[in-house]
Amino acid sequence: IHREYWLNVTDKVISPDGYLKTEGKVLNGSYPGPLIEACWGDDITVHVTNYVKTNGSTIHWHGLRQFHTNEADGVNGVTQCPIAFGDTFDYNFKALQYGHTWYHSHYSLQYPDGVAGPLLIHGPSSANWDEAWDPILISDWSHRSAFQDFYVELGNATSGVRGQEPTMQSIVLNGTGNYICDPSTDRNCLPPKERKPIFSKVFEKGKRYLLRLVNSSTESAFVFTIDNHMLEVISTDLVPIHPFKTESIHIGIGQRYAVIVEAQPSAPVQEDGNYWIRTVVSDNCGTINQSNPEMGVIRYNARSTALPTSTNHTALSTVCADEPPENLVPVVPWPVDHQAVNDVLNDTFEADVSKNETHGAFRWDLTDTPLWLNFSNPTILNLGNTTWNPEYAIIDENYDRGYVYLVITSENIRKDPTKGFTPAAHPIHLHGHDFVILAQSTGNYSVAETPKTFNFNNPPRRDVALLPAQPSGYLAIGFKADNPGVWLVHCHIAWHASSGLAMQILERQNDILPTIPSLDPTRKTCQGWDTWLASH
Ligand code: C2O
Repeated sequence: IHREYWLNVTDKVISPDGYLKTEGKVLNGSYPGPLIEACWGDDITVHVTNYVKTNGSTIHWHGLRQFHTNEADGVNGVTQCPIAFGDTFDYNFKALQYGHTWYHSHYSLQYPDGVAGPLLIHGPSSANWDEAWDPILISDWSHRSAFQDFYVELGNATSGVRGQEPTMQSIVLNGTGNYICDPSTDRNCLPPKERKPIFSKVFEKGKRYLLRLVNSSTESAFVFTIDNHMLEVISTDLVPIHPFKTESIHIGIGQRYAVIVEAQPSAPVQEDGNYWIRTVVSDNCGTINQSNPEMGVIRYNARSTALPTSTNHTALSTVCADEPPENLVPVVPWPVDHQAVNDVLNDTFEADVSKNETHGAFRWDLTDTPLWLNFSNPTILNLGNTTWNPEYAIIDENYDRGYVYLVITSENIRKDPTKGFTPAAHPIHLHGHDFVILAQSTGNYSVAETPKTFNFNNPPRRDVALLPAQPSGYLAIGFKADNPGVWLVHCHIAWHASSGLAMQILERQNDILPTIPSLDPTRKTCQGWDTWLASH
């Protein structure tokens, strides 16, 4: 079946948390954008038109493999030019995985301003639940445009401002939050009657509900929990796993979990039958001014409007870390056919995250030089061009064994302790693939020793994993080099990605040219962008 959607990116004053954000940007008028859904195997076309006056735009379908559809990955500077004001770009791709995820602008810092939405691909229906909810986007939120906040991150040596992550203002759950302010003294502060009601859902005792969680934040990782209820986790990102039960789940930026919640509270149902849904910011992974975690309500009595009096049922661990690998066991194991450490050593690319001061500003990088993409000349239009020397790309083609290992370390982040950098974990995201997590640890990586400890025994598989960084750490991932194209690897903290904490992987570029049906729409988009740039 062919599914067709239209998305318009526009400027809009929005106030999801009850406080005006004048430079908001939205999809089809709303934040989050509309649900895009399809069935496993469907063809999807999304026509994206950019009406934002001051920015280009692109949309990335986070986690979708884009197998042989590299040109639909939506990364400006890599797979296309930004869509200029008034122009439309058609994304054509296949739903090759099932589960829930999100889509978001990949134009610079546009998604934190509101250009993000839920994406759901229905899979085989062996439903072990009674009711499935649409995806829930959990996000930190700022009242200023992310483009303004970014200056804080870059820092400015002359003004003495140091490169620290900007402080976000509040948390929003599916575009609803409650920023506390005084409307009588602050006219950007909406009075209670003009605010959206708190996110709430009804539970019927004994039924099972499927919750699809997404962390669509700019800089924050969360711990998600529902007072007095257990979560049965059934997928990590787009990968089904053997279910495990937990009271809370850690979600890094870009990560998703599908969890089944049985309407069976561990403590007796209170008189009002209401329980808090909590989103707690992880330690050192996000700075939020008003980080009240009581973000949603589960009601056993549909008519009740009272706020819950429930209290947290457990002592939460708020450490910023991924779930332990032994919990995240894929149902379909990674088809690794060789486990020799030698292979790993021979085929490993290494990258080290660092943050340095250049020209008075702080820049993050993965490869010793921050990745700066040329928006007007995307890499995809230069594939096969032997004189093209894309910046800081890893070129891997003709991989006999077919697997690529990438080790990312964070040993040098605090090269200069006087800068006082916060050793935050970095949510590392790879486009075009799921990857297996072979190692994920604090401490220093040893080329000779660490690969011997790699986990080849059905390791977790997903598309975002946290790189520990306190005080140093490493993340070793593996993926099959089977998808021709140019793919980004980057930290999903928006500030870091925008300041260069990214690199391109050129995968089997000699195989790609015949597989791209036509790059004409890409070229046309580039002409439109250049024309727009010239007049601005
Ligand atoms: Cu969620 Cu490069 O993106």
